[in-house]
Amino acid sequence: MKIVIGNYKMQVGTRESVALARGVLHGIRGSETLPDIVICPTYTALGEVRKVLARSHIALGAQNVAAVPAGAMTGEVSAAQLADAGCTYALIGHSERRAALGETDTMVHDKISQALAQAITPIVCVGEAKEVRDAGRAEEVVAAQVRAAFSGIRPPKRMKAVVAYEPLWAIGTGTSATPADVIAMHRIIRKAVHEVVDIDDADVVVVYGGSVDGANAYSLLREREIDGVLVGGASVKIHEFLAVIAAAAEVIDAQGV
Ligand code: PGA
Repeated sequence: MKIVIGNYKMQVGTRESVALARGVLHGIRGSETLPDIVICPTYTALGEVRKVLARSHIALGAQNVAAVPAGAMTGEVSAAQLADAGCTYALIGHSERRAALGETDTMVHDKISQALAQAITPIVCVGEAKEVRDAGRAEEVVAAQVRAAFSGIRPPKRMKAVVAYEPLWAIGTGTSATPADVIAMHRIIRKAVHEVVDIDDADVVVVYGGSVDGANAYSLLREREIDGVLVGGASVKIHEFLAVIAAAAEVIDAQGV
């Protein structure tokens, strides 16, 4: 399988999110081959984007989820509330949240538990900083993030988990990691997940994020180890995002994956 996930971040509001979602639906109309597609708008746009995507092939995702199930948590949105809003995916532990909002491995772990309890597929973001890669410690650091996120997670009967490898130096910089670096890291990530959680290999989806666009998507997606892409900046440019989806479809057609 191949999956294309759009992360609108805090870049666009309801009107633009709706227009983008409509643009994706319009752009894929009539396509026989499609990857799985997930759109993650900002919280306030979820309701309207949900209406646009209703009965479509495209899933709705949130950009975050609370680490606790319910209660007096002003400003937080629980997994149950997200499920109620139509979300079937949630981004968890994005590096922007880890860096700017102090999100820790423990919080990431708790958020995964919350999402799974509501049948929301977690999209768990991991990745190393430039200094870490330069010091030759990228694989060790990312594997540790993955183990911390998933260890002790009791998988429900059918648990699917997405792990997004997003090196910090590649996010929003225009410099994507090379397919070779991504493949190497995806192998490490898969292994780390299996070290700590009992899950079918087919249910572990490892995607890459960091300056993915229409121009480089094919070279990443054609690799067997790269199950999909998490797209930030290019997801709010409709032609770029459609080009990424088209690249995924091309790979699926060419490889029958
Ligand atoms: P980018 O962001 O595609 O703009 O690099 C990716 C992400 O942060 O998910």
